[in-house]
Amino acid sequence: MNDELTQKIVDRTAVVAVVGLGYVGLPLAVGFAEKGYHVIGIDLDVSKVERLAAGTSTIGDVSDDTVSRLVDDGRFRPMSAYDDAGCADAIFICVPTPFNAMKAPDLSFIEQASHDIAGHLRPGQLVILQSTTYPGTTEEVVLPLLEATGLRVGEDYLLAFSPERIDPGHTSSAGYNVENTPKVVGGVTPRCADAAALLLSQMIASVHRVSSPRAAEMTKLLENTFRSVNIALVNELAMLAERMDIDIWEVIGAASSKPFGFMPFYPGPGVGGHCIPVDPFYLSWKAREYDFYTKFIELAAEVNSEMSYHALDKINAALNRTGTAIRGADILVVGVAFKPNVDDARNSPAEPIVEMLLQQGARVSYHDPLIDRFVVGGSFHLRERLELASTALTAETLQAADCVVIITRHADLDVDMLIEHSRVIVDNVNATGSSDATGALIVRLGTSDGDLGPTK
Ligand SMILES: NC(=O)c1ccc[n+]([C@@H]2O[C@H](COP(=O)([O-])OP(=O)(O)OC[C@H]3O[C@@H](n4cnc5c(N)ncnc54)[C@H](O)[C@@H]3O)[C@@H](O)[C@H]2O)c1
Repeated sequence: MNDELTQKIVDRTAVVAVVGLGYVGLPLAVGFAEKGYHVIGIDLDVSKVERLAAGTSTIGDVSDDTVSRLVDDGRFRPMSAYDDAGCADAIFICVPTPFNAMKAPDLSFIEQASHDIAGHLRPGQLVILQSTTYPGTTEEVVLPLLEATGLRVGEDYLLAFSPERIDPGHTSSAGYNVENTPKVVGGVTPRCADAAALLLSQMIASVHRVSSPRAAEMTKLLENTFRSVNIALVNELAMLAERMDIDIWEVIGAASSKPFGFMPFYPGPGVGGHCIPVDPFYLSWKAREYDFYTKFIELAAEVNSEMSYHALDKINAALNRTGTAIRGADILVVGVAFKPNVDDARNSPAEPIVEMLLQQGARVSYHDPLIDRFVVGGSFHLRERLELASTALTAETLQAADCVVIITRHADLDVDMLIEHSRVIVDNVNATGSSDATGALIVRLGTSDGDLGPTK
């Protein structure tokens, strides 16, 4: 291994750069700064950099106090250009990896970041890709861009892949955070892996080495595909349970009493976020190069995306019981973040549901204390783009709605109040399942619509 780099990592004089200060990059940057490293944060979003430099956090899982303290101490320097990338001893790449409209990987952010890093690459540096991507990206995409400088991997500079496992909004309650969640790493050469593992182990309690970046890339996709497939399985069983007049939530609770060989997954109105609906497609896209068709990935995606249509059916069924049509109905959607307790609405299941409701002539409002503005449209459901603003959740707004649709349940949602003041609730996440409150007609995903009671 590069002795100078080793020494700097161990005595914490190494300068760490983090490219992309989003949900993944910011906690990583802050984590290394907390360990005493000087951290340069590089993000092309100038307004984000300005807010961070002014001591304001841009994500819920990192506090303003932490950012302002580290910025004031000079340990965390957010920047909107790569000018100082050459000063860094280690550079993490944490940029987005979305897919395009045809669900093919969009690696343009990784390519741009690698190209800009290459402009400042010098001997002795370590580059670690953290963005989730298909097996082969580190060596087939990042490496050639860095080698265009004439520097050689494993000799002049070091390159590795280490996937991110953070679980935004869930960390403190589950007891897992960046430091105590084990991290996987694979280097292009053994020296690359040694250096990356050493650096990561300064912050993370357990580092698991694999033989190559491709194995590390595939590990992340296995983890996310595992989730996608299991969620699809339980979504399918939830729809079956509805027809059989069985409560799927009761069944999942009962199955969870088995202490081994079972892990609970829960049905819902679709999968959202930057990872589960996107990452498996990176693998299925790459698989085609090997004349291989990833049937489980496609099937799971199909079942999961059907859930938004199923949610619409439930809304229809509920409104039908009160003699109301979707057209002209006032629908209040509760929770548009892609999962509980996050301020992130990317790929939220609420998106297609709200779009379909609007397209069918409903008047839609929403309440989400973590999402001030919710942009919908621009899809085949609804061509027009619309920006909605979060509305207050009061007895009046609930009474005014023909139907309240719960899509995401944040921890502080007052479910009893919802039940007491709403006329009809379509509950996609079993938020109402354990409440004793009475009032609204409730249709829950995964239970028979027969629990609606007598027609009003
Ligand atoms: N969010 C999660 O929970 C999570 C978990 C595990 C892995 N991941 C993966 O991590 C990666 C990043 O995800 P995220 O949620 O942090 O994304 P994000 O959109 O929150 O943040 C990415 C940041 O990168 C910046 N950026 C884009 N191009 C850049 C460039 N060329 N140079 C510098 N900055 C640039 C953007 O302005 C943005 O601030 C993705 O590959 C994602 O799949 C995300």
